[in-house]
Amino acid sequence: MYDYLIVGAGLFGSIFAYEAKQRGKKCLVIDKRNHIGGNVYTKEVEGIQVHEYGAHIFHTNNKRIWDYVNQFAEFNRYTNSPIANYKGEIYNLPFNMNTFHKLWGVTSPEEAKRKIEEQRKTANISQPSNLEEQAISLVGTDIYQKLIKGYTEKQWGRPANELPAFIIKRLPVRFTYDNNYFNDRFQGIPVGGYTQIFEKLLDGIDVKLKTDFFKEREELETLANKIVFTGMIDQFYDYQFGVLNYRSLKFETNVLDDTDNFQGNAVVNYTDSETTYTRIIEHKHFEFGKQEKTVITKEYPMEWEQGLEPYYPINDDENNTVYKKYKDLADQEAKVIFGGRLANYKYYDMHQVIGEALVTVEKEFGK
Ligand code: FDA
Repeated sequence: MYDYLIVGAGLFGSIFAYEAKQRGKKCLVIDKRNHIGGNVYTKEVEGIQVHEYGAHIFHTNNKRIWDYVNQFAEFNRYTNSPIANYKGEIYNLPFNMNTFHKLWGVTSPEEAKRKIEEQRKTANISQPSNLEEQAISLVGTDIYQKLIKGYTEKQWGRPANELPAFIIKRLPVRFTYDNNYFNDRFQGIPVGGYTQIFEKLLDGIDVKLKTDFFKEREELETLANKIVFTGMIDQFYDYQFGVLNYRSLKFETNVLDDTDNFQGNAVVNYTDSETTYTRIIEHKHFEFGKQEKTVITKEYPMEWEQGLEPYYPINDDENNTVYKKYKDLADQEAKVIFGGRLANYKYYDMHQVIGEALVTVEKEFGK
């Protein structure tokens, strides 16, 4: 008999399993996929670590979480500085003095602020009623038209003036020449990829891959005293209050034999509306790779339907109300612990999942 059956070998499940083992508990970890690591999984192709489920850059402000992951891998000094390609024009992201110089030729923060203010005033939007108005009221028309509109419309599959304003609460604008996307103190990519972290976390723990909890639920539930569930919460309760909605993604990965450097940067966003993908990832640049070939992935946003990978929860009022009903049921469970992005119906960055897993571990086992 196991102490815990852990459904999902992603970050939440693997950290819980590791910490439980440290405390003498016996765990069985299952995952329906054929690999560990969940969406953080990386796979070696042509000597390059490929981020199979989209670019994963580790960043955190929390020293404890940074020290925690550094136990399992050495992190490099990678700094996320994405590039925007708008119909062949190249801009730095996030919006900063380099972006403003390229857009308007301005050289001082004062001039850049004046330009944005001018455009906001001309637009004269006091009560934004949709995403388009919200964005223009925050950063003016030029940035909106070239760097936000097309990308956002592809991301959500709808025109920006039909999207709710609340999606964009604020848009970070920086009046320094700083292309570092994140404001966090710590940032990097594990040298040799993320999968090694999961191999270490799950070392000595029973793991069964290609095992879907819902296909063998009755039998699996008899194997352990408690369940840690990191799958979709609505599925756990047989969709009794309805299906929670997501946006999905399709990844198209290619090895390029005839070039060792396709785009000169790990992440390039395509911000026009005509290009059907939102970004191209060139994986070798995450680790400053010098391999002879290169591997790129185009990322296409898609409508989600059951059977597709659920990537981004759509946390509008309707879905949040349905989630709340499932959450109320979950709160009453004595023998099931829910954790991670799918069980909480929430977009989490990696450091947030680690934080959540460590808090759950403390609740379960004490400090
Ligand atoms: P995760 O989904 O990783 O793991 C859950 C596991 O449970 C999966 O392996 C799944 O197969 C399994 N499972 C589900 N149902 C099951 C069932 N019925 N039976 C058996 N197994 C089941 N974060 C960050 O910090 N920096 C970044 O740059 C990015 N980039 C990024 C890009 C994209 C495109 C996305 C979608 C997300 C990111 N993230 C990110 C977020 C990151 O991916 C996320 O924080 C973690 O993957 C969450 O880990 P979990 O363990 O919660 O879920």
